[in-house]
Amino acid sequence: MKLFLFALLVLLHFTAAVPTWEGMNGRSSIGSLIPGASLITAKGPVSHPGDVKHLTVHNPGTIGNITIRAEARSGSPLFYINRNHLWLLVNETTVYPVNIHNSTTFHDLPMQLVLGKQKQGITTGTWRWKGTQLYYDMPGGQSNMGLYFHCLTSSGQFNTFMSPIPSPPPNGCQVMTFHSFTREYK
Ligand SMILES: *[C@@H]1O[C@H](CO)[C@@H](O)[C@H](O)[C@H]1NC(C)=O
Ligand SMILES: *[C@@H]1O[C@H](CO)[C@@H](O)[C@H](O)[C@H]1NC(C)=O
Ligand SMILES: *[C@@H]1O[C@H](CO)[C@@H](O)[C@H](O)[C@H]1NC(C)=O
Repeated sequence: MKLFLFALLVLLHFTAAVPTWEGMNGRSSIGSLIPGASLITAKGPVSHPGDVKHLTVHNPGTIGNITIRAEARSGSPLFYINRNHLWLLVNETTVYPVNIHNSTTFHDLPMQLVLGKQKQGITTGTWRWKGTQLYYDMPGGQSNMGLYFHCLTSSGQFNTFMSPIPSPPPNGCQVMTFHSFTREYK
């Protein structure tokens, strides 16, 4: 019975949130194209009950800096990991890579997440799931340990950063973790 209720809740979550991110036909159809594609949910001080935030871009349907936002009317995008890289699923024919820009010259944290049209920037590391949690590991044993940062930048926008060496949040940044709560139940 408990299991049934849980399955029902998961199902309701899906059907209640059918999106049309960049004109896609609906999450259920697009999500089934790539098994394991799912929303990425931020947890930490940035997230409050009733104010769930998902990984996305500032302007849905465009490429640019990655950020977290409350679910837009058009829905939040789905992500998946393929060949150690993190991808945003745009539609039936298009996926965009989540790239890592070297931000050491302009930010306290060395890596910024930016959605691109092709793979660019730091590509030596590996994206992976550990349970529900998203990790980025660098060669030589370094890892972000599943920690990301929501930082107000000089452009006036909140962007997403990380570090291969766990560090406390710099000024203007809040720490968070990223999760895929639905992926495991597919
Ligand atoms: C998928 O998205 C790309 C990029 O926005 C667009 O060029 C293409 O026309 C879209 N394809 C479909 C089938 O909607
Ligand atoms: C980022 O850039 C700095 C300065 O150019 C460099 O020292 C560092 O190795 C780069 N980091 C990575 C992970 O490539
Ligand atoms: C993206 O982020 C970088 C660094 O945080 C910033 O300089 C740039 O202005 C941002 N781009 C846009 C379009 O806001």
